[in-house]
Amino acid sequence: MESVKGTRVISVRTATDLVVLDEAGELIRRGELVVFPTETVYGLGGNALDPEAAAKIYAAKGRPSDNPLIVHVAKNEDIEPLVRAVPQVAVELMERLWPGPLTLVFPARSEVPRRTTGGLDTVAIRMPAHPVALAFIAAAGVPIAGPSANLSGRPSPTTAEHVIADLAGRVAMIIDAGQTGVGVESTVVDITVSPPQILRPGGTTLEELQTVVPEITVDPTTLADRPPALDRVRAPGMKYKHYAPRAEVIVVEGTPEKVAARVAVLYDEYEAAGRRVAIMATAENAASYGERTFAVVGSRQDLGTVAANLFDLLRRFDDQGIEVILAEGVDMVGLGLAVMNRLRKAAGYRIVKA
Ligand code: TXA
Ligand code: MG
Repeated sequence: MESVKGTRVISVRTATDLVVLDEAGELIRRGELVVFPTETVYGLGGNALDPEAAAKIYAAKGRPSDNPLIVHVAKNEDIEPLVRAVPQVAVELMERLWPGPLTLVFPARSEVPRRTTGGLDTVAIRMPAHPVALAFIAAAGVPIAGPSANLSGRPSPTTAEHVIADLAGRVAMIIDAGQTGVGVESTVVDITVSPPQILRPGGTTLEELQTVVPEITVDPTTLADRPPALDRVRAPGMKYKHYAPRAEVIVVEGTPEKVAARVAVLYDEYEAAGRRVAIMATAENAASYGERTFAVVGSRQDLGTVAANLFDLLRRFDDQGIEVILAEGVDMVGLGLAVMNRLRKAAGYRIVKA
């Protein structure tokens, strides 16, 4: 066990490290905060039924308190004390896609603190597909409110090192289970409207959701290539500046060949202007950048690799003192939808069409 600025960092490789998880559960029941791994990103956990724990979460993240928290459960039955109704479509989605990177927005019971729901009368719930997360939630014995465990506005954390950089000294414990798999946050689906609507694209793809709910829609603001009008945003979190490294990000979109050519030209212009610039490259285009500074984020053939490395690479460029990041856009299919949503936000919608 290690301690950073008073935060205990505990490495858990399997869900059978029960002593540690019992201690983590005890901290939660006492109203403390524990960072836990999920299959998407690390979560900043507190007792979802305790308004003071929810207040502590907002304070630790520096997050606006009208931005609601996702509640994490370990079993389907755990949603019953939290929700007023379970529509048939939710039953089907839970059956097919839980545990997994899918958050469902339900009508909330009055017992769910409005501190947790950001004042809304709906509550977002998910069951993470990570054995350590499930064992931790079960050990706590209460539903766990958990936003991504980053400082508000920073890229979400996919390793315990990212969490330590942002939150050491602000939480009681960090459970380190290595790098998370999916790399982008869960897909948020509102099932209180008919047909259901995706409010935030994420780890569960539109295509997967369509196999269960063919008529599902996507909040158009999440697909936009310009900043959405604030009064049209339906997931409160989507209106804040997000996922942003300290560096300036520019997304270059178009066919792979045109993107590679335009990125190279932009790189040379920024370099000539004396800026420290780096390219977030796909494997397919990397060879065309020659001696320029680049890092491969993943492959266009498997956009899951891009999702998995996206936030880590944004943070690594920051650590290297990069001032301008030129990011290749990818196709908005499969996990590419979530990747492009995050990249465009990280760029503050600075998009170059190649
Ligand atoms: O993968 C994830 O979802 C991660 C891990 C830790 O589970 N959590 C996460 O939480 O990304 P957070 O708080 O960073 O993002 C929650 C998103 C926000 O955009 C928020 O506005 C939306 O979900 N949300 C939460 N409750 C909502 C509600 N009742 N209605 C509409 N949107 C809601
Ligand atoms: Mg977040």
